[in-house]
Amino acid sequence: MTTLSPRSAVILGTGSYTPERIVSNEDFAESLDTSDEWIRTRTGIHQRRFAAPEEATSEMSCKAAEAAIAAAGIDRSEIDLIVVATMTPDMPFPSTACLLQSKLGLPNVAAFDLQAACSGFVYGLNVVSGLLLSGRHKKALLVGAEKMSSILDFEDRTTCVLFGDGAGAAVLGVEDCAGKGVIASLSGADGSQPELLQQPGGGSALPPTHASLDQRQHFLKMNGKEIFKLAVRVMGNACKDTLQQAGYSADDLDLVIPHQANMRIIESLQKRLDIDHSKFHNNLHLYGNTSAASVPLALDEAIRAGRIQSGDLILLVAFGAGLTWASTLIKW
Ligand code: UT7
Repeated sequence: MTTLSPRSAVILGTGSYTPERIVSNEDFAESLDTSDEWIRTRTGIHQRRFAAPEEATSEMSCKAAEAAIAAAGIDRSEIDLIVVATMTPDMPFPSTACLLQSKLGLPNVAAFDLQAACSGFVYGLNVVSGLLLSGRHKKALLVGAEKMSSILDFEDRTTCVLFGDGAGAAVLGVEDCAGKGVIASLSGADGSQPELLQQPGGGSALPPTHASLDQRQHFLKMNGKEIFKLAVRVMGNACKDTLQQAGYSADDLDLVIPHQANMRIIESLQKRLDIDHSKFHNNLHLYGNTSAASVPLALDEAIRAGRIQSGDLILLVAFGAGLTWASTLIKW
């Protein structure tokens, strides 16, 4: 067991936001060769939310952040770091975190985006915890937000039915509380197979041209079968390693909040860890895969539903394009 640090990064409050527009599986069946039955049984998704055309990632981030600040009960001027995890920024630059900083009215506060695709929020939690423990920052706002509908190919039934839009946020601080807060974490990556899940066009490798747009290169592309297998393996290993770091076993967990990508992936993870499904909090059926927003959306929902109590042992785990993976063990 690792020695417990006398100081820990703690989550002081969470918030979330999902856009108004609900898109059902049947809505896709009107324009694509798909069905509610296929989507439900192969993924567990019943519906998702799509942002309005003018509603960018920073807008959704701002609503989730306001809710998290209110839940934390702090004065927003105490925040001295803003990190936004997203792969669908408002624009390549400036960062969505800078746009959010201005919307929140927090001039001069350090702000940057973190790109680890669907693992972004959990990666961010691990990075921000380290920055807080270093003493360089005292209170941080971490947001996971995505407008996935802006990069989906609505002619590709193998990907467009899977994703949704939304934002989740947490305010973090440091407390003198040995054994509480973030007690173990792990972040990893394997960049050897980027083609498994990527948005090939629009960056410096393939800047947007009429040809790249005609070839639909600016949309998300995925090899779902391969990602599925890797997801189960890397999330399973990440969970086991993180628990081991803190000297806990899967039996000790009160709640697991996994990345919400596919219910069959989550069920495979449950089997691999030998944890009953009742110890998992899922909302995939309502929102689909919201990428970096998925874990904080589910975390905020679980807190507001009273599923997380003081003293509970909570494991957050995610995987995503890169391939990236991350997990965080929190003693609440
Ligand atoms: O955050 C990380 C992001 N990604 C993921 O986590 C995704 C991981 N992968 C998955 O969730 C699953 O692999 C999918 C849901 C994407 C696909 O499920 P699958 O069971 O692996 O299906 P498949 O790719 O093997 O396709 C089976 C069949 C194919 O037809 P044929 O070749 O057997 O005739 C597909 O063309 O299902 C077809 N199919 C569809 N049919 C109706 C694929 N998408 C659809 C669809 N509606 N939307």
